Amino acid sequence: MIHAIHHPLIKDLVNRLRDIQTDSATFRHLLQEVARLLLYEALKEWQLQPNRIQTWIGKKEFGFIEQEKIVFIPILRAGLPMLEGVLELLPKAKSGFLAMKRNEETLQPTIFYKRFPQLQGNTAVLLDPMLATGGSLSDAIEVVKADKPEKILSLNVIAAPEGVEAVSRKHPDVEVFIAQIDQKLNDKGFIIPGLGDAGDRAFHTE
Ligand code: PRP
Repeated sequence: MIHAIHHPLIKDLVNRLRDIQTDSATFRHLLQEVARLLLYEALKEWQLQPNRIQTWIGKKEFGFIEQEKIVFIPILRAGLPMLEGVLELLPKAKSGFLAMKRNEETLQPTIFYKRFPQLQGNTAVLLDPMLATGGSLSDAIEVVKADKPEKILSLNVIAAPEGVEAVSRKHPDVEVFIAQIDQKLNDKGFIIPGLGDAGDRAFHTE
């Protein structure tokens, strides 16, 4: 299920990412902010768990998010700044890691490293700024599914319609939250207008 977010604040942050004058530090900071807003949307219907706490007027019960049941999984490299952002909101959540690289000619992704904590009974939240052909996200979802999480969410900043279509066809059970769906992919598999190569822009490489 695809959720495209329509909010002026999110659009403004995404469009600042597109600006070539945005330096790497600011780029990473903007990715953190967008990730937090996407998480806010993604947890809209989340069930709070009652917990008794000591307040200034005695012991009372309030609802909290069971952070330990959430596992954030950034897709390296470009997903890393997003992890920083969401962990500030949910510092007790766990993190797993998936290193993937898309071949620039064939556009096929390869997985180089995978390290997940227990996913069974938990919610896995994939983090990647870019959803282009959808190959990386589809493969990442397959790998995550093998560990049988209770639920899978994905937070993505910019997507191409082709990638959105591919992921929703292969994984209709996954909830994908996207800040911006752009016009198309070009013949090199880049999102147009997009923001260039998010990994390079975030980490000052080319
Ligand atoms: C980019 C991006 C996604 C993937 C999207 O990563 O961050 O992971 O490509 O493309 P797809 O939808 O066509 O699979 P890349 O492989 O360039 O690695 P990087 O994060 O290290 O730059």
